[in-house]
Amino acid sequence: MKPPVTDPAALTVEEVVAGYGGVLALQGVSISTRPATITAVLGANGAGKTTLLKTISGFVRPRRGKIALDGTDLTRRRPEEIARAGLAHVPEGQGVITELTVEENLRLGGLWRHGHTSRAAALADAYQRFPLLSGARNRSAGTLSGGERQILVIARALMASPRMLLLDEPSLGLAPRMVAQVMDLIRQLRDEAGLTVLLVEQNARSALAIADEGIVLNLGRVVAASSAHELAADVELRKHYLGF
Ligand SMILES: Nc1ncnc2c1ncn2[C@@H]1O[C@H](COP(=O)(O)OP(=O)(O)OP(=O)(O)O)[C@@H](O)[C@H]1O
Ligand SMILES: [Mg+2]
Repeated sequence: MKPPVTDPAALTVEEVVAGYGGVLALQGVSISTRPATITAVLGANGAGKTTLLKTISGFVRPRRGKIALDGTDLTRRRPEEIARAGLAHVPEGQGVITELTVEENLRLGGLWRHGHTSRAAALADAYQRFPLLSGARNRSAGTLSGGERQILVIARALMASPRMLLLDEPSLGLAPRMVAQVMDLIRQLRDEAGLTVLLVEQNARSALAIADEGIVLNLGRVVAASSAHELAADVELRKHYLGF
């Protein structure tokens, strides 16, 4: 195994309340993650999963509560400060810029960097880790398949040398074979690069298969938090909240 390339990070979210106007999408959510682990964030449509990620990365301001990375308070900091602290957010949807080349897309990911690695070194790392992107570096990103675009957006987030990755439904819309590849990649990022991952998924079965821990959100509240193994074995929970 390669040595870790990051200092693994621990995230704590305490009693966070956040929303949009009159909608309280998070009603006192607490989670804590251990360094270099994957925590699956599960729950039905509208449960508050995306809002949780956006609140952690500073795009939604919490009304109450506290968010910290390794004890450094990030509550109500601006998104670029949070990115510099080592948190990278990959939003939902394969948001590549289709008019730009693969390499231009990757370079955009290096704008708010954590640590001292140069952008050239980060690019070389990306091509080494993802040979398919290396082969396609001068192609327009619009020519990539859905699965390749998902790998590109994850690679773009890694350009910032993050310590923690927030992934919003990376398997959405992908063929089963690509879902397996993306899950494998996320597992490798934990095991080989030492990244801490918060993985939002509708595909609870696939997410729990690679996760260490999991939480289940329902209507803005945590209704279960346990090891991934225990959640996957809970028949009632699966029936009510996880859909498998
Ligand atoms: N920009 C917004 N303005 C108003 N309400 C919003 C906005 N974004 C989300 N909401 C509401 O906040 C609640 C939580 O939404 P959120 O997108 O966080 O859920 P989710 O768990 O990610 O759902 P999905 O599985 O559909 O992605 C929902 O009731 C949703 O309608
Ligand atoms: Mg969502």
